[in-house]
Amino acid sequence: MENVIQVIKREVVEHIDNFAKLILSETQAEIKKIIVRPIKIKDKLLLQIEKYKNNQVYHENVEIDKILDLQFFDYKQILIELKDKNIIFSKKSNGYKQKVQLKEASQEINLSHNKQKLYLINEGDNVPALVDLGIFTKDGKIVKAKYDKFKQINRFIEIIDDVFKSIKKDKITILDFGCGKSYLTFLVYYYFVEIKKIKANIIGYDLKSDVVDNCNDIAKTYGYKGLHFFVNDVKKDKLFEGDIDMIISLHACDTATDYALDYAIKRKIPYIFSVPCCQHEINQTIKKGGDFDILFEDGLIKERFSALLTDAIRVEILRSYGYVVDVIEFVDFAHSPKNIMIRGKLTKSKKSFSNVENLIKKYKFKQKLYELTKKS
Ligand SMILES: C[S@@+](CC[C@H](N)C(=O)[O-])C[C@H]1O[C@@H](n2cnc3c(N)ncnc32)[C@H](O)[C@@H]1O
Repeated sequence: MENVIQVIKREVVEHIDNFAKLILSETQAEIKKIIVRPIKIKDKLLLQIEKYKNNQVYHENVEIDKILDLQFFDYKQILIELKDKNIIFSKKSNGYKQKVQLKEASQEINLSHNKQKLYLINEGDNVPALVDLGIFTKDGKIVKAKYDKFKQINRFIEIIDDVFKSIKKDKITILDFGCGKSYLTFLVYYYFVEIKKIKANIIGYDLKSDVVDNCNDIAKTYGYKGLHFFVNDVKKDKLFEGDIDMIISLHACDTATDYALDYAIKRKIPYIFSVPCCQHEINQTIKKGGDFDILFEDGLIKERFSALLTDAIRVEILRSYGYVVDVIEFVDFAHSPKNIMIRGKLTKSKKSFSNVENLIKKYKFKQKLYELTKKS
């Protein structure tokens, strides 16, 4: 009988158009499951290998013949899914037993990016700045401790891509408020310059001079001429005054998010992508005052309610200044509990301002964006 390798060589490597999926499972090996699918990236047909290890999933895209390097014999169950049939190898005491299941109708294979949950940037992609920043190892693997950050920045880019894939622009200017170590800032630059081929001028602001210096050094190393970082307090310093297309902020602390949104409102910046962080202001100032008092009995509930109220007010204010706003679950809670993104696009239709002022009078809290943008 043919062994697994011979079948894979014939059915996958030599007839890739007929291949749908390979699943390796039931094992004592460290990698508990492997799923392989064909995928098209920039018109090139590759294989995406998904490995499940220590409750995490790792992806890499490889040339088709690299499938032969997998450790097939570590797995008791091997499923080769083809358009017209499934071939199943099951390990018994006397070796693998092969079974073929014919399909009633030939199945179409989906090679698209999104449906297969591939990120715009994947493990193994050559983004050298992300190696310097400590997200990827030198051989292109995601650093384990940075997996959540990798998820966050990739999702952030996906959401930007949803908006920008249909927009044609020659150049773009973006400000990042509270950029920190700037994983996101570098990835946004990479996305616009390397993937979208758009000239980008991106500026990151942070309070910490050491991280700002480091980011400028890395940008210089890779010739990222349109990427600059400055030590500035976004709450009080004068920031870039030229035309700006977009502001981004990822977990900019507390009211720094409000200053970012205020900056966008005052300068009529067309696009906002903002994931708020810790939100202390309302939690620290709100008093009992009416129908919602039950929410202030327990610290944890009060904190969560205050955070949601903060974001609801921010969204309300943005809408009243002409932004169409989506509130998006940014990443799964497991990858960050601060997982709400406020995405705004400036239009001409302003929504009338509702009862924020009444709420403030009743519950006596402070909210920075409200104060900064108050229409007297
Ligand atoms: C939680 S970190 C997030 C960093 C980065 N955006 C990320 O997601 O990896 C928040 C950053 O905001 C910066 N920050 C806080 N207040 C700021 C202010 N008023 N002006 C500029 N940066 C500020 C902090 O120094 C810190 O680096």
